[in-house]
Amino acid sequence: MIERLDALEVEAARTMDVARDALALEEARVRWLGRKSELTQILRGLKDLSPAERSTVGARANQLRESLERRYDEIRARLESEGPGNGPSPGRDLTLPGRALPRGHEHLISQVLDEVQTIFHGLGFTLAEGPEVEDDRHNFDALNMPPGHPARAATDTFYLRSNILLRPHTSSVQIRTMESRKPPVRIICPGRVYRNEAVDATHHFEFHQVEGLYVDENVAMSDLKGTLDTFLKAFFGRSTEIRFSPSFFPFVEPGAQVEIRCFFCGGKGCGVCGPLSGGWLEVLGAGMVHPNVFRAVGYDPERWTGFAFGAGIERLTMLRHGVPDLRLFYESDVRFLHQF
Ligand code: DAH
Repeated sequence: MIERLDALEVEAARTMDVARDALALEEARVRWLGRKSELTQILRGLKDLSPAERSTVGARANQLRESLERRYDEIRARLESEGPGNGPSPGRDLTLPGRALPRGHEHLISQVLDEVQTIFHGLGFTLAEGPEVEDDRHNFDALNMPPGHPARAATDTFYLRSNILLRPHTSSVQIRTMESRKPPVRIICPGRVYRNEAVDATHHFEFHQVEGLYVDENVAMSDLKGTLDTFLKAFFGRSTEIRFSPSFFPFVEPGAQVEIRCFFCGGKGCGVCGPLSGGWLEVLGAGMVHPNVFRAVGYDPERWTGFAFGAGIERLTMLRHGVPDLRLFYESDVRFLHQF
Protein backbone atom coordinates (compact mmCIF):
# COMPACT_ATOMS: atom_id res chain seq x y z
CA MET A 1 0.00 0.00 0.00
CA ILE A 2 2.80 2.38 0.90
CA GLU A 3 4.53 1.64 -2.44
CA ARG A 4 1.29 2.34 -4.25
CA LEU A 5 1.04 5.71 -2.53
CA ASP A 6 4.65 6.51 -3.50
CA ALA A 7 3.89 5.69 -7.15
CA LEU A 8 0.70 7.77 -7.01
CA GLU A 9 2.67 10.72 -5.77
CA VAL A 10 5.09 10.63 -8.70
CA GLU A 11 2.36 10.24 -11.33
CA ALA A 12 0.03 12.85 -9.86
CA ALA A 13 2.78 15.41 -9.48
CA ARG A 14 3.85 14.90 -13.09
CA THR A 15 0.35 15.41 -14.56
CA MET A 16 -0.15 18.55 -12.48
CA ASP A 17 3.23 19.96 -13.42
CA VAL A 18 2.59 19.66 -17.16
CA ALA A 19 -0.84 21.37 -17.00
CA ARG A 20 -0.59 24.33 -19.38
CA ASP A 21 -3.93 25.89 -18.58
CA ALA A 22 -6.70 25.99 -16.01
CA LEU A 23 -8.68 23.24 -17.68
CA ALA A 24 -5.80 20.73 -17.74
CA LEU A 25 -5.02 21.53 -14.11
CA GLU A 26 -8.62 21.01 -13.10
CA GLU A 27 -8.67 17.64 -14.87
CA ALA A 28 -5.56 16.59 -12.98
CA ARG A 29 -7.15 17.67 -9.71
CA VAL A 30 -10.29 15.62 -10.33
CA ARG A 31 -8.23 12.64 -11.38
CA TRP A 32 -5.86 12.60 -8.39
CA LEU A 33 -7.77 14.33 -5.62
CA GLY A 34 -11.41 14.02 -6.70
CA ARG A 35 -14.08 11.95 -4.99
CA LYS A 36 -13.47 8.96 -7.24
CA SER A 37 -9.70 9.18 -7.21
CA GLU A 38 -7.60 6.30 -6.02
CA LEU A 39 -6.27 8.37 -3.15
CA THR A 40 -9.77 9.16 -1.88
CA GLN A 41 -10.68 5.46 -2.12
CA ILE A 42 -7.62 4.55 -0.05
CA LEU A 43 -8.52 7.15 2.57
CA ARG A 44 -12.06 5.85 2.71
CA GLY A 45 -10.85 2.25 3.10
CA LEU A 46 -8.64 3.07 6.09
CA LYS A 47 -11.35 2.03 8.52
CA ASP A 48 -11.17 -1.55 7.23
CA LEU A 49 -7.45 -1.91 7.87
CA SER A 50 -5.79 -3.36 10.95
CA PRO A 51 -4.93 -0.72 13.56
CA ALA A 52 -1.18 -0.96 12.81
CA GLU A 53 -1.64 -0.60 9.04
CA ARG A 54 -4.24 2.10 9.53
CA SER A 55 -1.79 4.36 11.30
CA THR A 56 1.11 4.02 8.82
CA VAL A 57 -1.00 4.05 5.65
CA GLY A 58 -3.27 6.75 7.06
CA ALA A 59 -0.35 9.05 7.89
CA ARG A 60 1.22 8.56 4.48
CA ALA A 61 -2.06 8.99 2.55
CA ASN A 62 -2.98 12.18 4.40
CA GLN A 63 0.48 13.59 3.88
CA LEU A 64 0.20 12.82 0.16
CA ARG A 65 -3.19 14.53 -0.10
CA GLU A 66 -1.85 17.63 1.59
CA SER A 67 1.20 17.83 -0.62
CA LEU A 68 -0.87 17.39 -3.80
CA GLU A 69 -3.31 20.08 -2.67
CA ARG A 70 -0.44 22.45 -2.00
CA ARG A 71 1.05 21.71 -5.40
CA TYR A 72 -2.32 22.31 -7.04
CA ASP A 73 -2.69 25.71 -5.31
CA GLU A 74 0.78 26.79 -6.37
CA ILE A 75 0.29 25.85 -10.02
CA ARG A 76 -3.11 27.49 -10.10
CA ALA A 77 -1.68 30.74 -8.72
CA ARG A 78 1.11 30.65 -11.29
CA LEU A 79 -1.30 30.07 -14.21
CA GLU A 80 -3.54 32.86 -13.00
CA SER A 81 -0.72 35.34 -12.77
CA GLU A 82 0.51 34.40 -16.23
CA GLY A 83 -2.55 35.60 -18.04
CA PRO A 84 -6.25 36.33 -17.93
CA GLY A 85 -8.63 33.50 -18.48
CA ASN A 86 -6.21 30.89 -17.19
CA GLY A 87 -7.56 30.58 -13.69
CA PRO A 88 -10.05 27.82 -13.03
CA SER A 89 -13.52 29.31 -12.83
CA PRO A 90 -14.25 28.14 -9.25
CA GLY A 91 -11.70 30.71 -8.01
CA ARG A 92 -13.12 33.62 -10.02
CA ASP A 93 -15.51 36.20 -8.67
CA LEU A 94 -17.80 36.95 -11.57
CA THR A 95 -19.54 39.72 -9.65
CA LEU A 96 -16.43 41.94 -9.57
CA PRO A 97 -16.75 45.04 -11.79
CA GLY A 98 -14.80 44.88 -15.04
CA ARG A 99 -11.64 46.83 -15.64
CA ALA A 100 -12.37 50.37 -16.81
CA LEU A 101 -10.98 51.13 -20.25
CA PRO A 102 -9.25 54.49 -20.49
CA ARG A 103 -11.50 56.78 -22.53
CA GLY A 104 -10.59 60.00 -24.30
CA HIS A 105 -12.60 63.18 -23.98
CA GLU A 106 -13.12 66.46 -25.76
CA HIS A 107 -10.09 68.68 -26.17
CA LEU A 108 -10.11 71.72 -23.87
CA ILE A 109 -10.36 74.10 -26.84
CA SER A 110 -13.44 72.25 -28.12
CA GLN A 111 -14.97 72.38 -24.65
CA VAL A 112 -14.43 76.14 -24.49
CA LEU A 113 -15.83 76.65 -28.01
CA ASP A 114 -18.96 74.78 -26.95
CA GLU A 115 -19.24 76.73 -23.74
CA VAL A 116 -18.93 80.10 -25.49
CA GLN A 117 -21.62 79.03 -27.92
CA THR A 118 -23.90 78.00 -25.09
CA ILE A 119 -23.49 81.32 -23.28
CA PHE A 120 -24.31 83.32 -26.41
CA HIS A 121 -27.12 80.97 -27.29
CA GLY A 122 -28.73 82.02 -24.01
CA LEU A 123 -28.49 85.64 -25.17
CA GLY A 124 -30.29 84.86 -28.43
CA PHE A 125 -27.29 84.47 -30.74
CA THR A 126 -27.37 81.67 -33.29
CA LEU A 127 -24.46 79.90 -34.90
CA ALA A 128 -23.02 81.02 -38.23
CA GLU A 129 -20.23 79.48 -40.24
CA GLY A 130 -17.96 80.48 -43.07
CA PRO A 131 -15.08 79.00 -45.04
CA GLU A 132 -11.50 78.92 -43.79
CA VAL A 133 -10.28 79.52 -47.35
CA GLU A 134 -11.54 83.04 -48.07
CA ASP A 135 -11.30 85.69 -50.74
CA ASP A 136 -9.99 89.15 -50.02
CA ARG A 137 -13.35 90.78 -50.54
CA HIS A 138 -14.97 88.99 -47.58
CA ASN A 139 -11.84 89.10 -45.51
CA PHE A 140 -10.70 92.70 -46.15
CA ASP A 141 -12.50 94.92 -48.70
CA ALA A 142 -16.01 94.59 -47.32
CA LEU A 143 -14.63 95.05 -43.80
CA ASN A 144 -13.51 98.55 -44.73
CA MET A 145 -9.94 97.52 -45.50
CA PRO A 146 -9.58 98.25 -49.23
CA PRO A 147 -6.33 97.45 -51.11
CA GLY A 148 -3.49 99.52 -49.75
CA HIS A 149 -5.20 100.03 -46.39
CA PRO A 150 -2.47 99.92 -43.73
CA ALA A 151 -4.48 97.55 -41.54
CA ARG A 152 -4.15 94.85 -44.22
CA ALA A 153 -0.43 94.70 -43.64
CA ALA A 154 -1.01 94.26 -39.92
CA THR A 155 -2.49 90.79 -40.31
CA ASP A 156 0.16 88.39 -41.53
CA THR A 157 -2.00 86.50 -43.93
CA PHE A 158 -1.21 83.25 -45.76
CA TYR A 159 -2.10 83.70 -49.43
CA LEU A 160 -2.99 80.71 -51.58
CA ARG A 161 -3.40 82.85 -54.71
CA SER A 162 -3.29 86.60 -55.21
CA ASN A 163 -6.83 87.10 -53.87
CA ILE A 164 -7.45 83.79 -52.06
CA LEU A 165 -6.20 83.30 -48.52
CA LEU A 166 -6.50 81.38 -45.27
CA ARG A 167 -8.69 83.63 -43.14
CA PRO A 168 -6.69 85.45 -40.46
CA HIS A 169 -9.87 86.27 -38.52
CA THR A 170 -13.49 85.18 -38.29
CA SER A 171 -14.74 88.69 -39.11
CA SER A 172 -15.20 87.53 -42.71
CA VAL A 173 -18.22 85.55 -41.52
CA GLN A 174 -19.95 88.83 -40.60
CA ILE A 175 -19.87 89.76 -44.28
CA ARG A 176 -21.03 86.36 -45.54
CA THR A 177 -23.91 86.34 -43.05
CA MET A 178 -25.12 89.85 -43.87
CA GLU A 179 -24.86 89.14 -47.60
CA SER A 180 -27.14 86.15 -47.25
CA ARG A 181 -29.81 87.45 -44.83
CA LYS A 182 -31.84 90.49 -44.09
CA PRO A 183 -31.54 92.22 -40.72
CA PRO A 184 -32.05 91.77 -37.82
CA VAL A 185 -29.01 89.53 -37.36
CA ARG A 186 -27.69 88.06 -34.15
CA ILE A 187 -24.94 85.53 -34.73
CA ILE A 188 -21.72 84.18 -33.32
CA CYS A 189 -19.15 82.38 -35.37
CA PRO A 190 -16.54 80.26 -33.62
CA GLY A 191 -13.85 78.95 -35.92
CA ARG A 192 -10.27 78.34 -36.89
CA VAL A 193 -8.03 81.11 -38.20
CA TYR A 194 -4.49 81.25 -39.60
CA ARG A 195 -1.67 83.76 -39.43
CA ASN A 196 1.87 83.79 -40.65
CA GLU A 197 3.35 84.04 -37.17
CA ALA A 198 6.51 82.65 -35.63
CA VAL A 199 5.39 80.14 -33.01
CA ASP A 200 6.09 80.97 -29.36
CA ALA A 201 4.32 80.74 -26.00
CA THR A 202 1.62 83.25 -27.04
CA HIS A 203 1.59 83.01 -30.86
CA HIS A 204 0.68 80.27 -33.29
CA PHE A 205 0.05 80.11 -37.02
CA GLU A 206 -3.26 78.41 -36.33
CA PHE A 207 -5.73 79.24 -33.58
CA HIS A 208 -9.41 79.88 -32.90
CA GLN A 209 -11.57 82.95 -32.62
CA VAL A 210 -15.18 83.67 -31.92
CA GLU A 211 -16.83 86.49 -33.79
CA GLY A 212 -20.12 88.09 -32.82
CA LEU A 213 -22.45 90.36 -34.77
CA TYR A 214 -25.70 92.05 -33.74
CA VAL A 215 -27.63 94.18 -36.24
CA ASP A 216 -31.00 95.77 -35.65
CA GLU A 217 -32.60 99.20 -35.44
CA ASN A 218 -31.42 101.36 -32.54
CA VAL A 219 -28.55 99.20 -31.35
CA ALA A 220 -26.40 101.20 -28.99
CA MET A 221 -22.97 100.93 -27.42
CA SER A 222 -24.73 100.09 -24.15
CA ASP A 223 -26.10 96.92 -25.79
CA LEU A 224 -22.57 95.93 -26.71
CA LYS A 225 -21.37 96.60 -23.19
CA GLY A 226 -24.24 94.68 -21.60
CA THR A 227 -23.74 91.69 -23.88
CA LEU A 228 -20.00 91.43 -23.34
CA ASP A 229 -20.33 92.07 -19.62
CA THR A 230 -22.76 89.15 -19.39
CA PHE A 231 -20.53 86.92 -21.48
CA LEU A 232 -17.33 87.69 -19.60
CA LYS A 233 -18.96 87.22 -16.20
CA ALA A 234 -20.44 83.90 -17.29
CA PHE A 235 -17.07 82.77 -18.61
CA PHE A 236 -14.63 84.14 -16.03
CA GLY A 237 -16.88 84.38 -12.98
CA ARG A 238 -19.44 86.76 -11.56
CA SER A 239 -16.99 88.99 -9.76
CA THR A 240 -14.89 89.69 -12.88
CA GLU A 241 -14.06 93.38 -13.28
CA ILE A 242 -14.40 94.58 -16.88
CA ARG A 243 -13.18 97.73 -18.59
CA PHE A 244 -13.74 99.17 -22.08
CA SER A 245 -11.23 101.52 -23.65
CA PRO A 246 -11.02 103.13 -27.09
CA SER A 247 -9.22 101.19 -29.79
CA PHE A 248 -9.10 101.01 -33.57
CA PHE A 249 -10.38 98.34 -35.95
CA PRO A 250 -11.29 99.39 -39.51
CA PHE A 251 -14.67 97.66 -39.45
CA VAL A 252 -16.04 99.41 -36.35
CA GLU A 253 -16.51 102.99 -35.25
CA PRO A 254 -16.06 103.61 -32.42
CA GLY A 255 -13.85 100.63 -31.64
CA ALA A 256 -13.02 99.32 -28.20
CA GLN A 257 -10.72 96.93 -26.51
CA VAL A 258 -12.17 95.04 -23.61
CA GLU A 259 -10.06 94.07 -20.64
CA ILE A 260 -10.62 92.16 -17.44
CA ARG A 261 -8.84 92.74 -14.16
CA CYS A 262 -6.03 90.20 -13.80
CA PHE A 263 -7.36 87.57 -11.41
CA PHE A 264 -3.92 86.11 -10.78
CA CYS A 265 -2.53 89.18 -9.05
CA GLY A 266 -5.74 91.14 -8.47
CA GLY A 267 -4.35 93.99 -10.55
CA LYS A 268 -0.95 94.52 -8.95
CA GLY A 269 0.94 93.39 -12.05
CA CYS A 270 2.36 89.89 -12.42
CA GLY A 271 3.90 87.46 -14.90
CA VAL A 272 0.52 86.89 -16.55
CA CYS A 273 -0.66 90.48 -17.07
CA GLY A 274 2.84 91.98 -17.26
CA PRO A 275 4.29 94.72 -15.08
CA LEU A 276 3.22 97.55 -17.43
CA SER A 277 -0.40 96.56 -17.99
CA GLY A 278 -1.59 98.01 -14.71
CA GLY A 279 -3.11 94.61 -13.96
CA TRP A 280 -5.55 94.49 -16.90
CA LEU A 281 -5.77 91.67 -19.46
CA GLU A 282 -7.04 92.34 -22.96
CA VAL A 283 -9.61 89.72 -23.92
CA LEU A 284 -11.69 91.11 -26.80
CA GLY A 285 -11.89 93.60 -29.65
CA ALA A 286 -15.28 95.16 -30.32
CA GLY A 287 -17.15 98.18 -31.60
CA MET A 288 -20.14 99.59 -33.47
CA VAL A 289 -20.36 98.32 -37.05
CA HIS A 290 -18.86 100.86 -39.47
CA PRO A 291 -21.32 102.37 -42.02
CA ASN A 292 -18.97 101.30 -44.82
CA VAL A 293 -19.40 97.67 -43.79
CA PHE A 294 -23.19 98.04 -44.01
CA ARG A 295 -22.83 99.67 -47.43
CA ALA A 296 -20.60 96.83 -48.66
CA VAL A 297 -23.32 94.25 -47.92
CA GLY A 298 -26.24 96.37 -49.10
CA TYR A 299 -27.68 97.28 -45.68
CA ASP A 300 -28.89 100.88 -45.34
CA PRO A 301 -26.56 102.50 -42.76
CA GLU A 302 -29.19 105.17 -42.05
CA ARG A 303 -31.60 102.55 -40.83
CA TRP A 304 -29.49 99.72 -39.40
CA THR A 305 -27.11 99.85 -36.49
CA GLY A 306 -25.08 97.12 -34.91
CA PHE A 307 -22.15 95.95 -32.87
CA ALA A 308 -19.46 93.36 -33.49
CA PHE A 309 -16.78 91.70 -31.39
CA GLY A 310 -14.02 89.16 -31.75
CA ALA A 311 -12.06 87.13 -29.21
CA GLY A 312 -9.25 84.60 -29.30
CA ILE A 313 -10.39 81.29 -27.85
CA GLU A 314 -6.90 80.13 -26.87
CA ARG A 315 -6.30 83.39 -25.05
CA LEU A 316 -9.57 83.14 -23.11
CA THR A 317 -8.70 79.55 -22.24
CA MET A 318 -5.13 80.28 -21.17
CA LEU A 319 -6.29 83.06 -18.89
CA ARG A 320 -9.08 81.12 -17.27
CA HIS A 321 -7.09 77.91 -16.74
CA GLY A 322 -3.67 79.45 -16.12
CA VAL A 323 -2.09 77.68 -19.11
CA PRO A 324 1.28 79.36 -19.62
CA ASP A 325 2.05 78.19 -23.17
CA LEU A 326 -0.23 78.14 -26.20
CA ARG A 327 1.75 75.31 -27.79
CA LEU A 328 0.46 72.90 -25.13
CA PHE A 329 -2.93 72.93 -26.89
CA TYR A 330 -1.47 71.46 -30.07
CA GLU A 331 1.09 68.98 -28.82
CA SER A 332 -1.38 66.19 -27.94
CA ASP A 333 0.45 65.40 -24.71
CA VAL A 334 -2.14 63.47 -22.72
CA ARG A 335 -0.46 64.42 -19.43
CA PHE A 336 -1.58 67.98 -20.20
CA LEU A 337 -4.88 67.16 -21.90
CA HIS A 338 -6.28 64.79 -19.29
CA GLN A 339 -6.28 67.55 -16.67
CA PHE A 340 -9.25 69.25 -18.29
N1 DAH B 1 -10.91 90.69 -36.21
C1 DAH B 1 -10.18 91.21 -35.08
C2 DAH B 1 -8.88 90.46 -34.93
O1 DAH B 1 -8.72 89.42 -35.51
C3 DAH B 1 -11.00 91.03 -33.82
C4 DAH B 1 -12.16 91.96 -33.80
C5 DAH B 1 -12.03 93.24 -33.28
C6 DAH B 1 -13.38 91.56 -34.31
C7 DAH B 1 -13.08 94.11 -33.26
C8 DAH B 1 -14.47 92.43 -34.27
C9 DAH B 1 -14.29 93.71 -33.73
O2 DAH B 1 -15.66 92.08 -34.74
O3 DAH B 1 -15.35 94.56 -33.71
O4 DAH B 1 -8.02 90.89 -34.23
